Amino acid sequence: MEPYRIKVVEPIPITTREQREEALKRVHYNLFDLRADEVTIDLLSDSGTGALSAAQLAAGMEGDESYAGSRSFYRFRDTVAELTGYPHILPAHQGRAAERILFSSLLEPGSIVLSNTHFDTTRANVELAGCQARDLPCPQARNLDSEEPFKGNIDLEALRRELAGADGPKVAAVVMTITNNGGGGQPVSMENLRQAADLCRRHGVPLLLDAARFAENAWLVTRHEAGYQDRTPRQVAEEAFRLADGCMMSAKKDGIVHIGGFIGLKDPELAEKCERLLIATEGFATYGGLAGRDLDMMAQGLLEVTEPSYLAERADIAAHLAQRVRVAGVDILEPPGLHALYLNAGRLFPHIPAHHYPGHALSCQLYLEGGIRSAELGSLYLGEEDEDGNPVKSAPYELVRLALPRRVYTRSHYDHVGRTLEGIAKKAESVGGFRIVDQSPILRHFRVKLQPV
Ligand code: F0G
Repeated sequence: MEPYRIKVVEPIPITTREQREEALKRVHYNLFDLRADEVTIDLLSDSGTGALSAAQLAAGMEGDESYAGSRSFYRFRDTVAELTGYPHILPAHQGRAAERILFSSLLEPGSIVLSNTHFDTTRANVELAGCQARDLPCPQARNLDSEEPFKGNIDLEALRRELAGADGPKVAAVVMTITNNGGGGQPVSMENLRQAADLCRRHGVPLLLDAARFAENAWLVTRHEAGYQDRTPRQVAEEAFRLADGCMMSAKKDGIVHIGGFIGLKDPELAEKCERLLIATEGFATYGGLAGRDLDMMAQGLLEVTEPSYLAERADIAAHLAQRVRVAGVDILEPPGLHALYLNAGRLFPHIPAHHYPGHALSCQLYLEGGIRSAELGSLYLGEEDEDGNPVKSAPYELVRLALPRRVYTRSHYDHVGRTLEGIAKKAESVGGFRIVDQSPILRHFRVKLQPV
């Protein structure tokens, strides 16, 4: 059960089907353009959408808003240094700001960054620094149905080949994303992390963690990895950070705050370089674009997030929804992680071709039938067509992500999601696809306009 009770509530909008039909037409079937008050259950992202605890709010009241050297910074820095073991801690307003500062300071144009899977902003920041981002997911990740527990791992053979190969000298960093969001929220094992760290050390390449969901990764390690069953998630997280040379973190996930992030580093010279850029572009080194109260709430959130009772319930609620979805007759990317479920829309709608976006069709149907907002992760996001709408490139899978905000929705909300999916699955063959009528050249899914086929 939930290890907390509800003290403050926020009404959620209840809409009619007619209103939702109107809204979908108005936004040209792009769910990013809906107003949040047209959405009943918002599963678009688990980022910055969590509920604060009473202790976090109280910590926020203690916030010291001094421009430089605030008490909040020192409390924050000590908490993060203790968790990670890194001596140099720089706050940043969110994950992508930390990425930009770290990559601009670490990478030379023409270098290569390797990862189990780069998250899309991580890839964008590598590319903006004039570098190449290469993903090396483990082969097990390709089978969506297999229940192997560590499908977020990096392919160690491929990593060895890249580091020892002709491009090896150009590799400037290896990034391990824990958990692997781009790879279905799957965790990375400590064994995989340790071996990756050994390879990096042997080749003199820094290993960095993209630690947005470090606590959820640690929880899954305690559940599934031999030798870790008796460890606490906090102990596993501490060990993971210490295997790497540094980290960047979007605290909007496992910091359970609405805004915040940081960089942690062992290397003093790199930290100094990052600090100079931070001061020029984010804010002074003791606030990094955040308010003092944000730093205090983040520090408190980072302590709460590794509580076993909190993580156990988060895993349980995800498993509860996963079971509802399976019973409804919809396949998911197995096994379910903690931060999201990925629905296999390609399999649910085999009659909709990739260039008519089965994932988007499912997202729109979830909104129309249940007021639920989700995110397409398929050919609308990753595909490409020519000017006449004929397919040029399609995504490997047509998925829809249901991201689960932290401490926000109850089992009855998720039961509504399950029931809605059940209704959709029953008349799956009657659901149609979409065609694009207007799109932007990059990150098209945010601004695209569509029409039912
Ligand atoms: N790294 C990972 C693994 C992420 O999932 C995200 C954000 C970021 C970095 C960037 O952090 O948003 O604070 O700038 N993921 C969100 C999501 C947006 O919905 O998955 P940010």
